[in-house]
Amino acid sequence: MFSPDTYVSRRAELKKRLGKGLVLLLGNDLVGMNYHDNEYEFRQDSTFLYYFGLRHDGLNAVIDIDNDRDILFGDELTIDAIVWTGNQPTLRELAAKAGVGDVRPSSELKPYLDRARAAASPIHYIPYYRADHELKLLSLLDLQPGGAVPSVPLIKAVVDMRNHKSAEEIAEIEKACTVTAMMHKAAMKAARPGMKEYEMRAIVEKVAMENGMRCSFPTIATVHGEILHNHSYDNTLESGQLFLLDAGAETPMGYAGDMSSTSPVDLRYTERQKVIYDLQQAASRAAVAMLRPGVPFREVHLQAARTIASGLKDLGIMKGDVDEAVVAGAHAMFFPTGLGHMMGLDVHDMENLGEVWVGYDGEPKSTMFGLKSLRLARPLEEGFVFTIEPGIYFMPELTALWKSEGQHKDFINYAEAEKWLGFGGVRNEEDYLITSGGHRRLGPGIPMTTEEVESLKYS
Ligand code: GLY
Ligand code: MN
Repeated sequence: MFSPDTYVSRRAELKKRLGKGLVLLLGNDLVGMNYHDNEYEFRQDSTFLYYFGLRHDGLNAVIDIDNDRDILFGDELTIDAIVWTGNQPTLRELAAKAGVGDVRPSSELKPYLDRARAAASPIHYIPYYRADHELKLLSLLDLQPGGAVPSVPLIKAVVDMRNHKSAEEIAEIEKACTVTAMMHKAAMKAARPGMKEYEMRAIVEKVAMENGMRCSFPTIATVHGEILHNHSYDNTLESGQLFLLDAGAETPMGYAGDMSSTSPVDLRYTERQKVIYDLQQAASRAAVAMLRPGVPFREVHLQAARTIASGLKDLGIMKGDVDEAVVAGAHAMFFPTGLGHMMGLDVHDMENLGEVWVGYDGEPKSTMFGLKSLRLARPLEEGFVFTIEPGIYFMPELTALWKSEGQHKDFINYAEAEKWLGFGGVRNEEDYLITSGGHRRLGPGIPMTTEEVESLKYS
């Protein structure tokens, strides 16, 4: 945890921004996978972590603005629990680490909220993403199903605070990025024909675990990089294929790293692989060169898209005017994702609070295929941390559908595009911070150019 002062000052800042009422922050509870006592690994809610830092289940909190009080609600362990879990710090000891002196039993939470409602104090809460949070809200606030209305002022205040990373948060994210880079290097060195994707996953996740971290999201370790969120691990790595890894570490405090790499299963990239790989790299460099305060990330995304479209035109896969092709969205057959997303305590930071607030500052998102997947579009500000992850994918289903519909036939040469089906996909991903003068890559970086990756595989 950071020092208690960090959490005290974050809560004071939140109170100042909201001005009145109280904030109800629900911590996460343990959830049974298939029966009550066989639980998923516990992960605290990230907004709770941001304001209270405590990685323990069974806690809820109130930040009472009207009465200037921060209260932690929870229950001390009974001897029955201690028999199974061993002795643990008391709630009062935990609360002290978060700079909280007021600790009360869980049973006092509802009466506390009842009194606030009776006094017509606004009760602010964020959107829920777990069914048990909805049930808690309904019973704590006497609401009917569907009746919970998250507070927009709270969402905006939390997003603004969490979007601007402090120096100690950046140092923590950098720790995650350092281990994340080690995970990718281990995979690049290990990938060989005959290995199973699940063996690659084990190599990658071991690095996180042996560094006291865990994965910040389910690892993607696949020879089918064209399947964007591929969560099966059964394929055998074959000669001539590319292995795409999208994996990240999460520090014990909950801060994430998120990187992607695409390395040859053989020691060397084939000439065909190099062409697409180098184009993906060019898109990444074009994007990174633009990163500085004030630049709208939508423009950075579109620059990466134009770079990819231009390269694909050189290969005969796309045709026509590159700018017009990107405005029309034709490049999205090969680059259907967003260029990047905010990163912090969540790998897609605060996605539960709404992308429109986090990445668009309340402006509406495009509904166009491709652009609708762009999670970050707003002008960049000092302290923003986000990913840069352009990709080039040859997706059989999408190609067949668009061809049958005659989509973008002025910009896509389907006969040429079909020759690349079976190639898979290429994505590299790095994590960046916006500084006052420009940007800084977080972590030591991973081998990127074909030469760097090949020399690592030979070492
Ligand atoms: N690294 C997973 C994602 O960005 O969706
Ligand atoms: Mn990502």
